[in-house]
Amino acid sequence: MEVKLRLLRFNPERDEDAHWEDYTIDAEPMDRLLDCLHKVKWYQDGSLALRRSCAHGICGSDAMIINGVNALACKVLVRDLKQPITVEPIRGLPVIKDFVVDMDPFFAGYKALKPWLIPHENRREPARERLQSPEERERYDDTTKCILCAACTTSCPIFWSDEEYVGPAAIVNAHRFIFDSRDAGARERLEILSQKDGAFKCRTVFNCTDACPRGIKVTRAIQEVKRAALFDSL
Ligand code: SF4
Ligand code: F3S
Ligand code: FES
Repeated sequence: MEVKLRLLRFNPERDEDAHWEDYTIDAEPMDRLLDCLHKVKWYQDGSLALRRSCAHGICGSDAMIINGVNALACKVLVRDLKQPITVEPIRGLPVIKDFVVDMDPFFAGYKALKPWLIPHENRREPARERLQSPEERERYDDTTKCILCAACTTSCPIFWSDEEYVGPAAIVNAHRFIFDSRDAGARERLEILSQKDGAFKCRTVFNCTDACPRGIKVTRAIQEVKRAALFDSL
């Protein structure tokens, strides 16, 4: 089938502003949008810049705005998209070139919340594995699925207007440890999340939940974190 693509291009060495460029390629209905972008890059314009790695929805590197909606290019089938298919870089992060954005501010928020296990003082070198019941594991199961694609954070209008907001992805990853029975850093993380750029900047818009390609209940995780911070309900 013939597929028409409208790509928002920006090359800082050449362009003052981003602008739309149109391309037509041949594709199969079951091809992913990533396959189409590869066809443009490999056969029509090698200067097209995009990030991708796994091509199977796992590495989280190819989040883009596809027909106005945040999604992973490797998970969207051509047959499900209205044409011309518009593709833009995710919003709220500086564009380096075409669909490649500067992820440093995104990862700064993530790192600030200490996304690693902080062991209890007296259990730093355990003689055996740290046991956990199925119920304790279930408590944070949903938020372990995050692949750090940034689709949630860059769909949030609060983040668009205020890049100091730590953003939903960072809160999701804090949630993953805050509710882990083996972790002792919950209060430290909740303290950070209670500050002015933390979880209480969220206005429950739900864009983040809609955008998440892993189906994580992002807004619910944020609400649980807010509740834990307010009522000490760990
Ligand atoms: Fe991506 Fe979902 Fe993780 Fe947000 S919560 S970074 S949308 S996988
Ligand atoms: Fe933004 Fe999601 Fe909250 S879209 S306002 S982080 S519910
Ligand atoms: Fe890895 Fe799409 S290329 S998630």
